[in-house]
Amino acid sequence: MKSVTLTDNQSGKRVEFPLLESVLGSHVIDISSLNKELGYFTYDNGLGMTASCTSTITYIDGDKGELLYRGYEIEELATNHNYLEVCYLLLNGELPTPQEYRVFEDDMRIKRYPNEGIKKIFEAFPDKAHPMAVLSSAVSALSAFHFQHLDIKTHQEYMEMARRIIAKIPTLVAYTYRHSMGYPYIYPDPNRYFSENFLYMMRAFPNGKVKISQVEIDALDAIFTLHADHEQNASTSAVRLVCSTGAHPYAAISAGINALWGRAHGGANESVVDQLEMIGDVSKVDAFIARAKDPNDDFRLMGFGHRVYKNFDPRARVLKKMRDKLQAELGISSKIIEIANRIEEIALNDDYFVSRNLYPNIDFYSGTLLLALQIPRSMFTPIFVIGRTGRVDYPMDGAKTRPKRQNHTPTPTLCGQC
Ligand code: ACO
Repeated sequence: MKSVTLTDNQSGKRVEFPLLESVLGSHVIDISSLNKELGYFTYDNGLGMTASCTSTITYIDGDKGELLYRGYEIEELATNHNYLEVCYLLLNGELPTPQEYRVFEDDMRIKRYPNEGIKKIFEAFPDKAHPMAVLSSAVSALSAFHFQHLDIKTHQEYMEMARRIIAKIPTLVAYTYRHSMGYPYIYPDPNRYFSENFLYMMRAFPNGKVKISQVEIDALDAIFTLHADHEQNASTSAVRLVCSTGAHPYAAISAGINALWGRAHGGANESVVDQLEMIGDVSKVDAFIARAKDPNDDFRLMGFGHRVYKNFDPRARVLKKMRDKLQAELGISSKIIEIANRIEEIALNDDYFVSRNLYPNIDFYSGTLLLALQIPRSMFTPIFVIGRTGRVDYPMDGAKTRPKRQNHTPTPTLCGQC
């Protein structure tokens, strides 16, 4: 067994700690016996260096700009597989066969309907309430409707619950939006694919016609896939923490939704669009770039830089292509996208940004892409919630699944890492 020896400079005592070897990435020192051996605890502000569990789901190499789900490159998954295949991969460790996919998708289609009683809960909220407040409450309330599933013990029961959650969250997100607008709720359409059904529930009116193009479905599907997982970030850690107590998965997911709400996490793409609007015109971009570079000015270019990626965020690359395709096919032109394109052009060639590895991140593109999909800004973070529930991960995960292509073992918990 490989190990690392620590010497206590006070007592001179030397203690060996096991080194847990990762399949990819940095190895990890197992310090679980630290207090017993040396009488100390560790201090790791923000848990940036600490893994709270072993995981074989996702791997990030921030220097290379690489993101893998179960060993698959994110670009490959977002381009060649749909979101539900990716959910299956995250849950089961391998992509589904066509037969496995059919069974999985059919099951998810019938699980889309929440209990009718949930609508009364929506009615109690003011229409101006923040959608994240309404959504987290509605998801938490589902645990009251699903009281018969409170005692989940087996892997099979967890998987059943995971499918239930992935299927129902888009319906609740759409209800949140409809309530905020005073529109009638639209039931899920079981004949439509997951992402198409979500756009349908957002856009349709009873007895009316709804237009949804394939390029829009593909773009939204890619957004869901690209947001499905990102190691042990704040919201994922919140879900794991709550679930580890044996609390109902809906209660745990609700905690994760609240963690995702913040501007340093799920709210970042809203901030990007806020800033683009504040800039207001392409002619003002140069002045704002100068402010971003000024060490005496607090102004930062939103959507640039990332705590982990010190190279191009691989998710951003996919979204940029998607946004350009959507724009070209639907003939969308907007002042906001013009401003975003100009900022990107300058920053990618400016020594200040290049020398600090400040590349556009996923939020830089997802905000403008969602606007192009006619999704209102207040719904950006709820959309992130839909994607991230694709990684519904319980304390039992990893114990039963043996992915063919493993990533690595423990990963640190990074607050607001997205
Ligand atoms: N605009 C201008 N300058 C920046 C930016 C930016 N967006 N980001 C970092 N810098 C500069 C800093 O001022 C600093 O410059 P200095 O070396 O001259 O002092 C240098 O780059 C390093 O900055 P740090 O804050 O140390 O970089 P870190 O990697 O810790 O921060 C962060 C990453 C927080 C994402 C930062 O880049 C930022 O604030 N970006 C803007 C906000 C944003 O887009 N957030 C969403 C990120 S995606 C996500 O995690 C949800």
